[in-house]
Amino acid sequence: MDLHEALYTTRAMRRVRPDPIPLDVQARILDAAIRAPSGGNTQDWRFLLVDDPGVKAKIGPLYRDSIDQLWKTIYAQRIADAQANPGDPESVQTMKVIRSAQHLADHFEDVPLYLFGFVRLDPSGGSIFPAIWSAQLAARAAGVGSALTSVLGVFHGPETLEILGVPADEHWIMACCVSFGFPTGRWDVAARRPVHEVSYRNQWGGDPGFEVPEPLWPNG
Ligand SMILES: Cc1cc2nc3c(=O)[nH]c(=O)nc-3n(C[C@H](O)[C@H](O)[C@H](O)COP(=O)(O)O)c2cc1C
Repeated sequence: MDLHEALYTTRAMRRVRPDPIPLDVQARILDAAIRAPSGGNTQDWRFLLVDDPGVKAKIGPLYRDSIDQLWKTIYAQRIADAQANPGDPESVQTMKVIRSAQHLADHFEDVPLYLFGFVRLDPSGGSIFPAIWSAQLAARAAGVGSALTSVLGVFHGPETLEILGVPADEHWIMACCVSFGFPTGRWDVAARRPVHEVSYRNQWGGDPGFEVPEPLWPNG
């Protein structure tokens, strides 16, 4: 697959079929992931795949409670604003993400595969995410959708580590839980604020020197 197609169309695909992800595809996903950089090339990471219905059944209720708590706390104001101005394009976008995230929570146990990413002794906190994004791109190349989630670690980290048998004395931090499955919907170019609205040159607020009103792939 064309690299730019993968970069532009790898979206949060939370509506997926229950069909299992073949093991050779899982191997490709993880083998691509571990090629990613980490600080000092320490590779002090672990990738834990979960496809056991028994394990998913234990984590599902915690995931749903995490999402409930997210809506009532960090997202409360955003949801209230969106509900107050339902016609506003930003509100429409917010409610779309919320419905999609709620769908994943409601169907947590039906998703065929999860990848839990762990990292430790990582002062920047960023060493795991290049690998996770590479996993998501490799999945995209195989037609597998994914969604990076962090809410479980925010609200139910310790219980999840216990369920997954993570050694308590080794300082592992659960960075994320990524869902994988063959999507029911279409791959689209991700809608984002354009580059010139979020980029500067030389000084904060400095004109970057170009504008990109439309995505540069596939027509740029
Ligand atoms: C660090 C991080 C944490 C995220 N946490 C969650 C999460 O807990 N639950 C969820 O459903 N999506 C989560 N997402 C996915 C984002 O909501 C998603 O990438 C964003 O809405 C863009 O979606 P799109 O690519 O489909 O446009 C997370 C994404 C990132 C990068």
